[in-house]
Amino acid sequence: MSAPERIPARRVTARDLELLTRGELHVEGQIRDASNAVLLCTVTFEGDEASCVYKPVRGERPLWDFPDGTLAQREVAAYEVSEALGWGLVPPTVLRDGPYGEGMCQLWIDTPEEPSQDGGLLALVEAEEPEDGWKAIGFAEVGEGRTALLVHADDVRLRRLAVLDAVINNGDRKGGHLLVDAEARLYGIDHGVTFNVEDKLRTLLWGWAGDPLTEEATAALEALRDRLREGEPLAARLGELITGAELDAVRERVAALLKSGRHREPSGEWPAIPWPPI
Ligand SMILES: Nc1ncnc2c1ncn2[C@@H]1O[C@H](COP(=O)(O)OP(=O)(O)O)[C@@H](O)[C@H]1O
Ligand SMILES: [Mg+2]
Repeated sequence: MSAPERIPARRVTARDLELLTRGELHVEGQIRDASNAVLLCTVTFEGDEASCVYKPVRGERPLWDFPDGTLAQREVAAYEVSEALGWGLVPPTVLRDGPYGEGMCQLWIDTPEEPSQDGGLLALVEAEEPEDGWKAIGFAEVGEGRTALLVHADDVRLRRLAVLDAVINNGDRKGGHLLVDAEARLYGIDHGVTFNVEDKLRTLLWGWAGDPLTEEATAALEALRDRLREGEPLAARLGELITGAELDAVRERVAALLKSGRHREPSGEWPAIPWPPI
């Protein structure tokens, strides 16, 4: 899987952010089966138009273990950290007012109907070991007493996302939250349950657990560590979005990753994976 390695992260332009922040929002419809209110909108500004999702704070289902701030703020914080890592893994996301009050607004990522040419990111296989190019997540019950091996692609884009998730303490990285656009760029979405001070990492991307971080990841984490220092603009911005204790916990997670030099390992005996995984 070398092809995606050459795909540069999409550079978010000031224009994207201006369009999302200042554009006029038109609600086109509601996405069904979402656990919170997720509205598909168009946003228009000075002749530019884009599709976006708008999740009004008012439509958030309260979560006992995330009592502070809003899920929308956590989604924006995840975007800010993603940008600081430099991999463009989270679609541009802003906080703004909208027809149902304040909420998060995120650029819509169009995903081609055709399965991507690299053969997909996740699979269930009837084997004990993953084939070359795949990494094992764990065994899953597939009915009638049978189990199958859940695997994810050994893909540089997913490997970066595993690092981002460890930093933001993502509690819900499932298959449906991975989007691949027409240019084969990978995005992660749905970052409402992130930044808890407790370890909540729940993800499918355990394939590199315990492996050394890539040089690229180490460099990105070092740069992030510097930008999280008190007084830096990123630290100030995150301070508006998550609590002080949560910001300190981000710093601690970055420091722990750099100290170990390795990808996160599950904290329990079994890797914590979201359910359902897709
Ligand atoms: N930025 C986006 N681009 C494309 N599709 C999206 C985007 N954000 C959300 N979606 C779609 O909307 C669905 C629900 O959004 P999600 O963020 O998962 O909401 P919830 O918090 O309710 O689970 C996603 O599973 C995905 O299909
Ligand atoms: Mg979701």
